[in-house]
Amino acid sequence: MLKDRHILLTGAARGLGAEIARSLAGHGARLIVADIAEDEGRATALEVGAEFLPVDLADPASIAALGAAVSELTHGALHGLVNNGAIATGIGGIPFDQIEIDSWDLVHRVNVRGTWLMTRACAPMLRASGSGRVVNVASDTALWGAPNLLSYTASKGAVMAMTRSLSRELGPDRVGITAVAPGILTTPSTDYVPEARHRLYSEGRAVPGPQAPGEITDVIAFLLSEGALTLTGQTLPVNNGFVFK
Ligand SMILES: NC(=O)c1ccc[n+]([C@@H]2O[C@H](COP(=O)([O-])OP(=O)(O)OC[C@H]3O[C@@H](n4cnc5c(N)ncnc54)[C@H](O)[C@@H]3O)[C@@H](O)[C@H]2O)c1
Repeated sequence: MLKDRHILLTGAARGLGAEIARSLAGHGARLIVADIAEDEGRATALEVGAEFLPVDLADPASIAALGAAVSELTHGALHGLVNNGAIATGIGGIPFDQIEIDSWDLVHRVNVRGTWLMTRACAPMLRASGSGRVVNVASDTALWGAPNLLSYTASKGAVMAMTRSLSRELGPDRVGITAVAPGILTTPSTDYVPEARHRLYSEGRAVPGPQAPGEITDVIAFLLSEGALTLTGQTLPVNNGFVFK
């Protein structure tokens, strides 16, 4: 499905990102993975036969440098960008009136501004490929209003809003952009989440039980394909029917 398509994936060092890397490589993509965690990121790249490049999504200069390096590797034509890298763990279970300002700011710097700047850095390359696709990894917590997670849910709500607005700015060049909204997955990042929240999902899903990251990666692969342009601007919950949109 993705044969010979150059794809850049952020946050591929572990968890869902590493699983997406395995899937995209399996679908034939020519993959570049980027992460702030260099050792783990290089290990993922080695495993799937991808290139690794470092990036700090909180740092505009680092994102610009990644864009330049990707342009060199792809000769200026990129078919796909997956904005998966994010602050996604250790920020839940905190009431809205107890979140530290610095923590809120970091979540938004990485999850929101990082997604914008990464997309901006790649836009010329996505246009040049003739069939550029962006997939933003959001979260269904922003759809059902998960409590005690406000900095994160607000950031993922912003990602969905950016997906809609960017679809109109990128669409004239036939660049498609979508978001996926997973529920809670069986990744190490959710080990700290209380059992009650895991149970809420397990019992509330149309397909009951836990959900592994590998269960959503084929959808992401499809969204990066040429045929997915028709879905541009949409957010797809990929949560085995926990919340509908
Ligand atoms: N695991 C879940 O249940 C779940 C559910 C919904 C959405 N998501 C989303 O899936 C994505 C992956 O999450 P995960 O669960 O694998 O979490 P994770 O914390 O294991 O992975 C996040 C990745 O992003 C990288 N990262 C963090 N800050 C960065 C920065 N400043 N610059 C570059 N890279 C940075 C990390 O090094 C890591 O590789 C996130 O966007 C998350 O919000 C996860």
